[in-house]
Amino acid sequence: MKKVVFSGMRPTGKLHLGHWVGALHNWVELQKNYQCFFSIVDWHALMGEYEQSKDIQQNILDMAIDWIACGIDPQESVLFVQSQVPEHLELQMVLSCLTPLGWLERNPTYKEQLREITTRDLQTYAFLGYPVLQAADILLYKANAVPIGEDQLPHIELTREIARRFNHLYKTDTFSDCEAILTPTPRLLGVDGRKMSKSYSNAINLSDSEEAIRAKVQSMFTDPRRIKLSDPGHPEECNVYSYYEIFAPEKKKEVYDWCSNAKKGCIDCKKILAEHILEKLKPIQEKREAICKDKNRIQDILNEGAKKAQAIACRTMEEVKRVIF
Ligand code: TRP
Ligand code: SF4
Repeated sequence: MKKVVFSGMRPTGKLHLGHWVGALHNWVELQKNYQCFFSIVDWHALMGEYEQSKDIQQNILDMAIDWIACGIDPQESVLFVQSQVPEHLELQMVLSCLTPLGWLERNPTYKEQLREITTRDLQTYAFLGYPVLQAADILLYKANAVPIGEDQLPHIELTREIARRFNHLYKTDTFSDCEAILTPTPRLLGVDGRKMSKSYSNAINLSDSEEAIRAKVQSMFTDPRRIKLSDPGHPEECNVYSYYEIFAPEKKKEVYDWCSNAKKGCIDCKKILAEHILEKLKPIQEKREAICKDKNRIQDILNEGAKKAQAIACRTMEEVKRVIF
């Protein structure tokens, strides 16, 4: 029996290069060795975007298309929408009963988000309980491993604590520990050097046209100390260079040389980078085009995935109820 992987992503907008190198690329690899469940977690999206809820439906479809285009294989993995499997909310309810408030209030990810996100009111009951639903997601499928970004580590820790508390209270071994799988790829910054994010408008989307990608790469911030072509640059301080490390590692030496010895200008350096990114994205964009032609098939894939997920989720919920009552 293969070990189980579970991961989720909130459908909050188009996927960008950061999602790809930070998550999807890794997910595609994991499919080879694990039984994977990948969920588009729309209830989690609603917790943050309840005022913009009408966008979520379109975002779900866009996300499914991007996932499949990147190589998530609906034959191999279970790809589904969280709200299509009501057991997620059922288990969340059960786990809420035994999760101490203090654990949630102390959660560093929660505190950081309340501090940083000022455009939306996140002082809600559901948002405090965000990690409880995440724990339910993971535990429903008894996942052994959860690929995530570093910011999600506290949530995996909480999932383990909640699982242990459940087992302890009901003298059972229903749930086992899960571990986080951190993505090996370094973090990709946006074109302005800040965290790549839709809300900063600094992202290169997987679905951007070639012209848009060329223009965005050309707008990237470079080494601020390199003003004239004849000024030697400092590649290790340049965001463009870190893109080379990810999208064209074989060119690193050459770029280092032309930058630090002022042999090539930043405009050319970025032109060449854009072509490398386009080349890497080409198979994804071709696949995306093919999938987009058949919207019904996407819905079929999601319905099929929800059915498979629910078969397992149901079994876990029966077990949970048997243990509790
Ligand atoms: N909280 C995760 C994020 O924002 C998304 C998520 C929801 C998730 N449920 C999950 C991730 C379960 C891993 C496992 O990135
Ligand atoms: Fe950055 Fe390239 Fe310009 Fe060097 S030449 S500063 S690596 S954009």
